[in-house]
Amino acid sequence: MGIVISVGVQKGGAGKTTTTAITTYLLAEMGYNVLVIDFDAQGNTSRILSKKSLSTFTNRTVMNAIIEKDLNKFIYNLNETDNINEKFGRYDLLPADDSLASLSEEAEKRKINVAYSLKEIVTSIKSNYDFIFIDQPPHLGAHTVAALIASDYSIVMLQSEPLCYFAIPRYLELLEQIKERLNKNLKLAGILATMLDARTSIDKQIIEQTRLQYEDWVFNTVIKRKNRIKEFSLNGVQHRTKEDKEALLPYVEFVEELIQRVKQ
Ligand SMILES: Nc1ncnc2c1ncn2[C@@H]1O[C@H](COP(=O)(O)OP(=O)(O)OP(=O)(O)O)[C@@H](O)[C@H]1O
Ligand SMILES: [Mg+2]
Repeated sequence: MGIVISVGVQKGGAGKTTTTAITTYLLAEMGYNVLVIDFDAQGNTSRILSKKSLSTFTNRTVMNAIIEKDLNKFIYNLNETDNINEKFGRYDLLPADDSLASLSEEAEKRKINVAYSLKEIVTSIKSNYDFIFIDQPPHLGAHTVAALIASDYSIVMLQSEPLCYFAIPRYLELLEQIKERLNKNLKLAGILATMLDARTSIDKQIIEQTRLQYEDWVFNTVIKRKNRIKEFSLNGVQHRTKEDKEALLPYVEFVEELIQRVKQ
């Protein structure tokens, strides 16, 4: 059975999409079969992974899959993309576009329970994959609740800056509530610190403070701020040059930690 992992925090620009894109790329590169569900109407994950404009996916998105209660029809295979080679496992994307913003209204019209809408379609294909990742939007609305109900694990992003640090306890509180009331299988995979600028003392302080407070829940790996990582959002994830390898090394270490935690 595939392990469903969502990546979230209710702070914009905290590295959720970047982490979803790079982590799934590395897992597929290791030979795992991976599905990425873009569950943010911004469609950033869809853009980065497919390297196609979002208009490619009009009427072929996660929103359509929820309405038709069929995910298979809307899966976009990434194995043919030029930065992916034949050694990769199956690498699939369920894309998103602006239409996902009207999830609640569309679900209500069709008498679909929005909270369970994603779980319903994910359950049907879980056995086809080793990992299913869900990229969450930066708010705690209906999309985040539906993503967490569909998930086995949650990775919480800590962008090393104060506003994200303050968001973490509220996000963890939501995880607890969902676990108690709506999805008893939900577990915290851990808190991943990212975009550390090692020259900035406030960044280091935030991470130290988080470790003191949340101890082993914080992954040992810390992702530093690197221009090469930002460039992946323009050109897709690449793992070829020395610069790519240097930029991806912390993510490789993170993926090893993550596998240890979720495969126990
Ligand atoms: N380690 C990093 N080094 C440099 N830039 C980074 C790094 N991680 C992410 N970024 C950049 O920071 C910006 C925000 O990242 P990203 O889109 O992944 O955040 P997000 O949490 O998904 O945002 P949103 O809340 O809008 O969905 C992007 O421009 C991305 O390229
Ligand atoms: Mg994002």
